[in-house]
Amino acid sequence: MNIEAVSVRHRTPASIAKELRFEDVRLTYGAVEAVRGITLEVRPGEVMCLLGQSGCGKTSLLRLAAGIEAPQFGRILVDGQEMAGPDIFVPPEQRGIGLVFQDYALFPHLTNLQNVMFGLSGLRRSEAVQEALRALQRVDLESAAQAYPHELSGGQQQRVALARALAPRPGILLLDEPFSGLDRRLRDQVRAETLAVLRDARATCMIVT
Ligand SMILES: Nc1ncnc2c1ncn2[C@@H]1O[C@H](COP(=O)(O)OP(=O)(O)OP(=O)(O)O)[C@@H](O)[C@H]1O
Ligand SMILES: [Mg+2]
Repeated sequence: MNIEAVSVRHRTPASIAKELRFEDVRLTYGAVEAVRGITLEVRPGEVMCLLGQSGCGKTSLLRLAAGIEAPQFGRILVDGQEMAGPDIFVPPEQRGIGLVFQDYALFPHLTNLQNVMFGLSGLRRSEAVQEALRALQRVDLESAAQAYPHELSGGQQQRVALARALAPRPGILLLDEPFSGLDRRLRDQVRAETLAVLRDARATCMIVT
């Protein structure tokens, strides 16, 4: 068995980190108060870890930031611009936010390269291929570009998912328990690798672990 570590040899232009701010944000599902008046600021380039017991609202907070949910109260701002508030709701695809969610699996019928290209629909095909290859280089999996997800280990698949999120160079990256599907030994390794890639990408990160 050959377990390789991520070395970030190929440096690509990094993201421009953005500031993410929650102002007294509330989200309820029916009678359940998932997020109760959270005020929080993640500074540009900062990696913030969200900890807390099951059901305390960590995933809900990321869904709010991503635009998958709309708050019932409060405001969400990116670089001072309102993404969600009483009179405004910017849809997910216009927020410039990358997501790595546990249940946001790779498409099994697409190659790893095609999976990473999925987030680059705005580019010409040749450019998209080039950018996707760069993102795969970043997680040290360029050699697996033509393979399919099922041909990779769990940790490698997780790195492809990270490459897919990084490819459009988001200013903000949200990761929800990205390591939970891995066994313990692999988890520590992939976590260390991911943090190294995140530091190099210089995006603002919120990560639930
Ligand atoms: N789609 C939904 N419909 C109804 N209630 C929901 C929904 N999603 C979450 N909830 C409820 O909102 C609360 C917060 O859930 P959330 O998923 O944000 O917690 P979490 O901190 O991510 O938990 P975990 O650590 O288990 O992932 C919980 O009480 C949950 O049952
Ligand atoms: Mg959760």
